[in-house]
Amino acid sequence: MEKYQILVIGAVGQIGSDLVLALREKYGKNNVIAAGRRTQPSKKLRESGPFIYLDALDIDALKKVVFENEIDVIYHFASVLSATGEKMPQMSWDLNINSLINVLEVGRRYGVKRIIWPSSIAAFGPTTPRENTPNDTILQPTTMYGVTKVAGELLLEYYFLKYGLDTRSMRLPGIISSETLPGGGTTDYAVAIYYDAIQKGKYTCFVNEKTTLPMMYMPDCIKCMIDFMEVDGSKLKRHVYNVTGMSFSAGDLAAEIKKHIPEFEITYEPDFRQAIADSWPMSIDDSLAREEWGWNPSYDLASMTEDMLKVLGKRLKRE
Ligand code: SER
Repeated sequence: MEKYQILVIGAVGQIGSDLVLALREKYGKNNVIAAGRRTQPSKKLRESGPFIYLDALDIDALKKVVFENEIDVIYHFASVLSATGEKMPQMSWDLNINSLINVLEVGRRYGVKRIIWPSSIAAFGPTTPRENTPNDTILQPTTMYGVTKVAGELLLEYYFLKYGLDTRSMRLPGIISSETLPGGGTTDYAVAIYYDAIQKGKYTCFVNEKTTLPMMYMPDCIKCMIDFMEVDGSKLKRHVYNVTGMSFSAGDLAAEIKKHIPEFEITYEPDFRQAIADSWPMSIDDSLAREEWGWNPSYDLASMTEDMLKVLGKRLKRE
């Protein structure tokens, strides 16, 4: 197995906090530097290996970390998501794009071997085919978050063409997890519903019953992050891949939870996030990721719900 020194920026976020633990299992705890700047890491994360303060908007600080730790791989997750981005679009652009360009610049100047930066279903917009959305299609998003994802995808391609930097991106759907809550996204209802089902027996959903979006369970997301990073570059014919796990409506999700918690009740009070959800695909064609680097998710709505309720239920009881 090849050895890597890995930096995870945004390590306290929804994906980072699970990914850091998985990477440390595989590559050794001292070979994975976790970096955050706003939220304190959980005890579990802090005790699992090195954790540093890092503001990716500060290019000198980023250079120092990459240089001193001889970083080979950067995962860059720091981002303002779609719903928060609509409240502060300028801040969303600033953080999402200027931190990315810093990572790309430091990456090329300091010999970083691979940069992984997630794009999103938010890169698509109302003019994109909404069902079985292909990899190569119209990218005309109507949120600032989506605008930063399209610009970011283009920057990744540019740094590859101009400097030969190995840049990789996957267009993630909504990610559902039990360890860390997402924050400020449109797909957050699909996580919050499990917490409220367990703790309150009811949930008020901010999109309507019919809203259907692509989603993925965290164990599949972790597999995606690691497999895609490790794959030999010669197999990849592009830098950005659609990936998905499943698609379901908010109503389907509630019905699945009801199978386990029959008294669970849901009400729908759509807010501004409804329009964002309506501008995104309902399902994704990820056949290129499957063909080119073996993407193969395991979880569907039923198996995810069973696992989420079990794992989250245990965790919430302990806390
Ligand atoms: N989960 C993200 C959001 O809802 C989509 O990438 O903003």
